[in-house]
This record gives sequence, C-alpha cells and structure tokens, in this order.
Amino acid sequence: MDSKTIVLDQEQISSRVRELGEQITREYAGRKVVMLCVLNGAFIFAADLCRAIDLELEIDFIRVASYGDAMHSSGTVQLIKSPELDLHRKDIILIEDIVDTGHTVAWLSRHFQESGANSVRLCTLIDKTERRETAVTIDFVGFIVNKGFLIGYGLDYAEQYRHLPAVFTLEKD
Ligand code: IMP
Ligand code: MG
Repeated sequence: MDSKTIVLDQEQISSRVRELGEQITREYAGRKVVMLCVLNGAFIFAADLCRAIDLELEIDFIRVASYGDAMHSSGTVQLIKSPELDLHRKDIILIEDIVDTGHTVAWLSRHFQESGANSVRLCTLIDKTERRETAVTIDFVGFIVNKGFLIGYGLDYAEQYRHLPAVFTLEKD
C-alpha cells in the first residue's frame, strides 16, 4: 500500500495564499495583471490566489506537455493549450503548482517574454529545490520543500490525489 504523510495543512496553505495575494497586490499596485494558470496542477492554487488579489486582473489558462513518467519531468516542454487573451505588453504572472527541475517554468518564462509581454514573473505554491537543474528566479513562493514527491491541493500522482485539501508526501512501495 502507498502511504502519505502530511506536509502542509489547510490552515497553513490558506494563510500563506492570503499573504501571497497581499504581496502581489502591493507589488503591482495601480497596474493590471494577467494570471496564467498552468493546468492541471495549479488550478486549485490559482483559484484561491486570485481571490486574495485586489487588482484589475485577467485570468487565463495554459497547458504544457513535458515528457517523462509520473514522477519525473523531462527537459522537453511543449505548449499544448495556448492562452486566449492577447498578452501583448501585458504584465504576466505564471502560476505553477510546483517547480522541480525548473525546466517547465524556465521554458514558459522565456516563451512569454519572447512573445511580447511587458513583464513575466513566476509564482509557485511549492519550490522543490532538491532536483533543480535549471536556475530560475521565482518571484513569489508559497513554500520551500526540499524533497519528496508531493500530492494534494492540485498536485497529482498519475492524475490521482489532486482533490485532497492539504499537501502530503507520497511514499510508493
Ligand atoms: P519541472 O519542469 O521539473 O520543474 O516540473 C514541474 C512539473 O512536474 C510540475 O508542474 C508538476 O506537474 C510535476 N511535478 C514535479 N514534482 C512534483 C511533485 O512532487 N508532485 C507532483 N507533481 C510534480
Ligand atoms: Mg503533474
């Protein structure tokens, strides 16, 4: 049987999400922002975070395929769902569930910078540092977790566990 151990409980998550929303609201005061939620994993985080932001805000969704197995992403990233909003000269915040090797956000941030945005910044619920392969600057970090395979609050293992309200490490046997 697989087992799971709690890492972040619901109260920790909701109070940190509120702080991130306040930080984003302060840093972008007087500006309009586009949140780009990276599907599928960031859907719950983005839904909570957007309600903690008090700015003129547009929200759109993107999806990437990064080839690999259920626990490891590869370096190859492909955009399989593009945003529908016009992002020309917009201030974009990419919303991710977790940054692991860094390949996905490094690729996405370069992609949107090159496609004419005014600015592109990164926000992730979890910065998992142990397996970083590409140096990335993450502007807004919910939690730093060094290691482990995490599930819940949007994070999956083979599409399971996204609906869990807290974050756990999954131990496979
Ligand atoms: P990166 O390109 O290695 O940074 O991979 C990021 C993507 O891999 C995330 O958006 C997740 O979908 C997935 N991922 C990496 N680590 C975990 C984890 O611990 N739990 C669930 N998904 C993960
Ligand atoms: Mg995933």
